[in-house]
Amino acid sequence: MRVITVGLGARSYDVLIEDGLLDRAGEHLARFTTGRPFIVIADETVAKAQWPRLKAALDSSGIDSDLITLPAGESTKSWAQLEYLLDELLLREVERSDHIIALGGGVIGDLVGFAASILKRGCHFVQIPTTLLSQVDSSVGGKTAINARAGKNMIGSFHQPSLVLIDPTVLDTLDPREVRAGYAEVVKYGLISDPAFFGWCEDEGHRLLAGDSDARAHAIGTSVAAKAAIVGEDERETSGRRALLNLGHTFGHALEAETGFSSTLLHGEGVAAGMALAFRFSAAQGLCPAEDAARVTEHLRAMGLPHDLDSAHVSASGATLVAHMLHDKKRTGGTLPFLLAKGIGQTFLDKTVDLKDVEAFLDADRKG
Ligand code: GLY
Repeated sequence: MRVITVGLGARSYDVLIEDGLLDRAGEHLARFTTGRPFIVIADETVAKAQWPRLKAALDSSGIDSDLITLPAGESTKSWAQLEYLLDELLLREVERSDHIIALGGGVIGDLVGFAASILKRGCHFVQIPTTLLSQVDSSVGGKTAINARAGKNMIGSFHQPSLVLIDPTVLDTLDPREVRAGYAEVVKYGLISDPAFFGWCEDEGHRLLAGDSDARAHAIGTSVAAKAAIVGEDERETSGRRALLNLGHTFGHALEAETGFSSTLLHGEGVAAGMALAFRFSAAQGLCPAEDAARVTEHLRAMGLPHDLDSAHVSASGATLVAHMLHDKKRTGGTLPFLLAKGIGQTFLDKTVDLKDVEAFLDADRKG
């Protein structure tokens, strides 16, 4: 088993990674028992696929449990579902000293984490992420949120889990497209600051997507270790270090907005195309060697991920996409901070980008 500690003083916690960990979850959760049942929250799809395994594990450790199910999908990160969840937790008399358990992907993790941060002024929670994206990113680091009319993740808190249990075998029941989309977030760690890991992705990424256990463990462990180090340094995204985790997200969100945040382009797919665009824009600005931008594009293409506007199913102009970026950040003009690269593993925050250059780049990149 790999154990990675997120070092945050008194709020430090471990991320455990091991095949089959879900079936042994009771052993790791037993220390949190208070005499009341553990409340597990999952969406209807994950409840069908994974709850029987977790329930059996808790039963075999003599731990009582109860399940709350919510609808699957991004629209569950809403005031209405938050209210429903909080009422259900209060009905079950959850106390501040209790741990509630988020069993699911980013939607359930973000919603349950936020509920935990405000229930009776804060209770504890454990993350058991069931998608590759949540295993390598959203379950670690304590960002919690729901969506608002004004935009995604606009209402939330920083509330760290007490433990994260990652069982890569849960990915076996996931739609391969979801796994591929989550893989974009794995590649991201190589592109931010670890060129050797990007090289590993080029050589071995296909094994991960094929479900190879060693490749999955290596990719998840390397990603979580990178994220834990960044969160330990900049928990609340104040120094700029944690902001590097948003590589590809400004371009990617514009593509997601243009495709209506729909299944046309999954979040991870938007991030993949966004990272390729960020590297090619960096190259076009003379910041990054063109060969590095080409390597990034080629790897994402080879892995079956979107890597340009066409493969992201976006036909909008550069001006329309920049308007989406400004809307996303609640700006009406001026400039935006962009995560650009001096090369593979050398991402940096650039606050001097001229949006006219971004527009012209996007139009030229399509004509390619
Ligand atoms: N997913 C970005 C972050 O946790 O900061």
